Amino acid sequence: MLTNISKYMMTKSFKKTKYQFTTIPSLSFSKDVGIYIHVPFCYSKCSFCPFYKELYSAELKDQYINALVKEISSAPLEGNSKWIYFGGGTPNTLTLEDFTRIINALKSKIEITNMGIELLPSLVTQEYLKGLVSLGFTKISIGIETFSKKTHQKTGRKSAGYNHILEIITYAKSIGLSVAVDLMVGLPEQTAYVFATDITKIIQIKPDQITIYPFMIIRGVKATPSCSTKEQFISIETAALKLHEAGYSRKSVWIFVLPNTTTNDVYDSSKDELVNDYYGFGPASFSTSHQWKVVKPELSVWLKNIHNNESFSFIAPKKKSTDDWRKFANRIYDLKLDNSYHFPFYIRLFDFLIKTAGYYRNGYLSKKGRYFSHEITKAVVESLPFPVQNPDCVENHEDYLVYKRSIHDL
Ligand SMILES: C[S@@+](CC[C@H](N)C(=O)[O-])C[C@H]1O[C@@H](n2cnc3c(N)ncnc32)[C@H](O)[C@@H]1O
Repeated sequence: MLTNISKYMMTKSFKKTKYQFTTIPSLSFSKDVGIYIHVPFCYSKCSFCPFYKELYSAELKDQYINALVKEISSAPLEGNSKWIYFGGGTPNTLTLEDFTRIINALKSKIEITNMGIELLPSLVTQEYLKGLVSLGFTKISIGIETFSKKTHQKTGRKSAGYNHILEIITYAKSIGLSVAVDLMVGLPEQTAYVFATDITKIIQIKPDQITIYPFMIIRGVKATPSCSTKEQFISIETAALKLHEAGYSRKSVWIFVLPNTTTNDVYDSSKDELVNDYYGFGPASFSTSHQWKVVKPELSVWLKNIHNNESFSFIAPKKKSTDDWRKFANRIYDLKLDNSYHFPFYIRLFDFLIKTAGYYRNGYLSKKGRYFSHEITKAVVESLPFPVQNPDCVENHEDYLVYKRSIHDL
């Protein structure tokens, strides 16, 4: 009951966000801003993935790199970066030479502190990892998803195989990289037994951080989940027991870390989307500043922008009530009761009801509370408005289509 009311209140608040396709207003960011760079290329498209991507072509990729360097060079950035993260798509469709150009452009603007990258495991080699370290990368995040070849076949993903993943993670750790992996639960053909086997295998490999994402139905996803949200939660709770025995501690409802792993200063998509300010580069990247949320357009429009020194994007003003719900969702995601933020009356009332209903014990979420957190976080991510994929959240979507057509007519 409480779960359903909370889900309703939050998703209603998020769905209210309406974007305008227009030029970016002047943005102000805190001095130590996070930087997200979207690499929109994949060699094949996985049917479970909703994120913006285009099939790789060397020509498009070269145009993208030239434009990205120009975009970075003209950005209003200075000072330190809190983190820099390359996500995708598949960032490792770029060569080490491509990264050298991007990082040089970043270094001419800001101080780089810690830098992470998402990697598709089947493409990773030891040479590539060595190159990343010499460019200053400190963290890699490997999208394993599952070890099941059947699921990979069914979803169009190129399989990497256990031995290859073991080899690259062992090597990455030996050269000082912090290694996170993504697993998913509820993918097609991935039964509870298959997921349990995934956990046994990942425990043998021992990455520093393991994120277990429930398969979420976000617009753009083509596959169908193999189990319900509740069954996903039960599988994650069972995995949590095994991971605890193997020395991992639970950092949030879906994240597990080995002792001494620093996760606070590194981008975590499910968390940073909720609360932190960051600056996004590349097509379909998000930025959030004090007043605005900005989402850059898809590749062809973004390329035209950079070529013409324009900044047409999807812009929405930030709303206090949506921000408050986001902060509340984030607090639940973190599993512990942090009272540092002063919530408005209606959220405090909610908090009171949750506590009374036994969702917290000694300042931490109980099992009942964790289920609440799992349901809420999933519902929040599933309801986040992604304007590139979702015309319903763009007030003047027709203007966007006209603008897009004008490029293709050139
Ligand atoms: C932006 S994706 C892309 C990573 C990279 N392209 C790859 O394929 O390895 C990053 C992570 O999001 C997660 N993800 C993708 N689609 C998802 C979905 N529908 N629901 C939940 N998590 C998802 C996966 O765990 C994936 O590793």
